[in-house]
Amino acid sequence: MSTIAVYPGSFDPITLGHLDIISRAALVVDELHVVVVHNPSKTPRFSSAERVELIRASIAEHGIHNKAKLVVDTLDSGLLVNYCRMVGASVLVKGFRSNVDLDYELPMAQVNRDLAGVETIFIPANPEHGHVSSSLVKQVADLEGSVTKYVSHAVARALASSAANRKK
Ligand code: PNS
Repeated sequence: MSTIAVYPGSFDPITLGHLDIISRAALVVDELHVVVVHNPSKTPRFSSAERVELIRASIAEHGIHNKAKLVVDTLDSGLLVNYCRMVGASVLVKGFRSNVDLDYELPMAQVNRDLAGVETIFIPANPEHGHVSSSLVKQVADLEGSVTKYVSHAVARALASSAANRKK
């Protein structure tokens, strides 16, 4: 039986830390859905369609072609477990950088298991990316710093143009 997994998040925008989790998760599952989920507690910089495009461009740029089939999708409303049910996924993938991430993620993992028996697999961040977050890269780009160590070229270009538009 094949294992279908979902890696959800805001991905606003995708960072090299997220790409590392995608590439490692793709080694242990057969099909991985990277899903841009609307999080009502955040005001996104990029639209869901832009975030999907940036994820696709970043995956292509970094040549992630592990054994799993990769699908990039959006979930604009409704429960994540309903999306899992729809695509036949039994597993959620989450990356964590520190106990702060785990404190945030643990209740969500428990609720998703209560709701639908969907298990969450946590993948520890590569220490190289332990300090990288979407919010920090947006801040650095807005202040005209270099983000090329943290994101793909496609995302760096999108951040530079969004920073320039915000200054107008
Ligand atoms: O990258 P983020 O913003 O921390 O991701 C959080 C996200 C989008 C994965 C989380 O908010 C989520 O799962 N939202 C979907 C709504 C849902 O199913 N909520 C109940 C279980 S947590």
